[in-house]
Formats: sequence, structure tokens, C-alpha cells
Amino acid sequence: MSYQIKIRGTDKTLDVGGDVTILEAALDAGIDYPFGCQSGNCGACKSRLLAGEVEMTDYSEYALTDEERDQGQILACSSVPVADCDVAWLDLEETVQHSLQNLDCTVQSVERATHDIVVLHLKAPSALAFSAGQYAALTLPGQPARDFSMAGEPYGDTLEFHIRAIEGGQVSAAAQDLQAGDKVALSGPMGLAFLRELHTGPILAVAGGSGLAPIKSIVETALAKGMKQPISLYFGVRDERDLYLVTHFEGLAAKHANFSFIPVLSEPTAETSRRTGFLHDAMAADFTTMDGCKIYAAGPPPMVDAVRALAERLKARAEDLHADPFYTVHELAEQGK
Ligand SMILES: Cc1cc2nc3c(=O)[nH]c(=O)nc-3n(C[C@H](O)[C@H](O)[C@H](O)COP(=O)(O)OP(=O)(O)OC[C@H]3O[C@@H](n4cnc5c(N)ncnc54)[C@H](O)[C@@H]3O)c2cc1C
Ligand code: FES
Repeated sequence: MSYQIKIRGTDKTLDVGGDVTILEAALDAGIDYPFGCQSGNCGACKSRLLAGEVEMTDYSEYALTDEERDQGQILACSSVPVADCDVAWLDLEETVQHSLQNLDCTVQSVERATHDIVVLHLKAPSALAFSAGQYAALTLPGQPARDFSMAGEPYGDTLEFHIRAIEGGQVSAAAQDLQAGDKVALSGPMGLAFLRELHTGPILAVAGGSGLAPIKSIVETALAKGMKQPISLYFGVRDERDLYLVTHFEGLAAKHANFSFIPVLSEPTAETSRRTGFLHDAMAADFTTMDGCKIYAAGPPPMVDAVRALAERLKARAEDLHADPFYTVHELAEQGK
């Protein structure tokens, strides 16, 4: 049994049958449908079901809330049609407009940023168009693919990544030993937590550990484009030795009056003049409301969850929070993805 699926904004009607999802069918038909994780976790493929009916496989509440589901929104990657359907992905300014590219890249340099983070520069055979804040799947030699976020400004053919070795982690450990000349396959860009350039309200850019990668891209792009609103970068790490690029961001703060850089140490082992405590507590001390702010957050899932809860408490609008929790594949598997 197959069903006719109309995708608004395209002139195509797809024949979809079996367990094929709307996203799989659209991509097979060559439609540039926005997507990220393909597992119901990121929300990049969020769409409106204008007519028809779908069955949805497991997905995370972060990607699609119950309220959104009740309003007729679906995740195309998790939706199998059970009737003829009419589907539209969400407004263009909210969706990613860059085509997915598969690029065979070469390691240009690997620099140690902290005891457990390397900054990797990859040379791509052609420029990768992406929006600041997006990520790509990288396949290191002999390793399974993992997601890592681009740290530089979009559109170049030299791509920067920050990779933190996590305890017991396979690929992040292998990344620490990469050498110039090694080959790395890249598939991207993906993700929805990208800089909204039309927004004119304050920007809160929040990074934990190597979550600095996408946040750096967002901050640098916003400054390079001359965005004039206050831009505050909160960078949370455990101790002094976990900080990196401090001089770089202090330099940007000296150059741009609208930019401030706030490193916060959660477990300092020595006397420090820096802010201490949890990142969300530091932000809570600085803001009485987040209404009208855009909040971009990346890093360990518990940190992102705490920032999300604070943003909700301080009246940020749900559509103004753009977060990429750095879930591992095992955490995603535990959630049934
Ligand atoms: C959108 C996104 C963007 C990201 N961007 C970045 C980035 O810019 N920089 C960055 O450093 N990271 C980033 N990450 C995280 C990155 O993708 C990897 O998850 C991380 O590097 C760990 O990968 P790994 O292969 O080293 O660990 P894995 O080998 O996948 O292990 C992860 C953890 O699971 C444990 N584990 C191993 N096997 C099992 C098992 N069978 N069952 C349960 N647990 C197990 C390990 O001990 C370890 O603690 C991002 C993640 C996402 C989702
Ligand atoms: S691509 Fe559908 S939720 Fe990530």
C-alpha cells in the first residue's frame, strides 16, 4: 500500500509506501528537505501536516513538543504516512537552506587547546556553505561517524572543529592523535541551532567545554556581519586549565563594545578572580528577564538543560532558544533513537 505525499513549495508528489518516512522519500526524490539527526532528536525536519495522517515513531520532546504535535506539526524523519498527505516544512527563515554535501577533507593542522581538547583544521576540496552554529558528521580514519560543530565563519574551504576527548570515548580519543595529511570524510551541514541574522534583540551565547565551537562561529559571524545588539558569551568550564581562546575573545571584547566575554569556573582548584559556580547561576545573577533575547547554547546536555530551564523561567520565548546538546550516540540509543 502506498500513499501520495505532496510537499508544499515543490512541484513533486511522492509515492510513499512501507515503513518509508516522509523525509526518506523526499531526499530520495532529490528534494532539499531540511534535516539533521534523522532520528527525531534535533527538530530540523519539523513540518506542518496540512492534510492526511502519519504514524510517528519515537522522538524527543525537545525536537517536537506535545503542544506543537497538537497544533499539527510533525517530524518528517519520524513520520510514516498512513494516508495521502500534504506536508510543508516550517518557514524558510527557520529552516536550513544549505544542501547537504559529502566532502573528502584533509587534516591541515591539529593544535592542542587544553589537556583534553584539540582544535582541528580541515581543508575541504570546495567551500562548505553552512549557517553559523551548524554541525557535520565527521568520519575519521577507521572510525564510525560522529557529529562535530563548525567553529569558524561559514563559507570557507578551511573548516575548524574543537574536539574534546571524553572518558571512554572512541572517536574523540582518536581525534586527539590526528596528524596533518590524514583524511576525514565530512557530511553536512546539519542542525537548526544557527544564528538568526534578522533578530535585533540581545544575544546570549552559552558554551560548555567544546560547546564553544558552534558558539564561537555564531559570535564571530554576528560581529563580522555588524550585528549591533548586546552579545554576551558565557563560557563554562570546570577549572582554569579547561579554558581556551580566552585571549582571542578578550581581544574581540576590546574591539567590539557590544560584545562581552564571561568565563565561569564551576570547580576552581585555586584562588581565582574569575566568576565561579554553574553557568546558569552566573546568567541568573546577570539577567532579570530574557524576553526578547536569542539564546544559543551548546555543550554537555545537563548544562544545556539548565540553561533552557533558566531561559523559560526568565520568560524567553520558546522559539528564541536554539540549543545543541552534545549527546553521544549511546545516550541517543538509550533514548530509543
Ligand atoms: C549536534 C552535536 C554536535 C556536537 N558537536 C561537538 C563538538 O563540536 N565538539 C565535541 O567535542 N563534541 C561534539 N559532539 C559530541 C560528539 O558527537 C561525540 O558524541 C563525542 O565526541 C563522543 O564521541 P566518542 O566516539 O568519543 O564517544 P563514544 O565512543 O561514542 O562514547 C561516548 C560515551 O559513552 C560511553 N559508552 C561507550 N560504549 C557504550 C555503550 N555500549 N553503552 C553506553 N555507553 C557507552 C563511553 O564510555 C563514553 O562515555 C556533538 C554532538 C552532537 C549531537
Ligand atoms: S532530522 Fe528529524 S528530528 Fe532531526
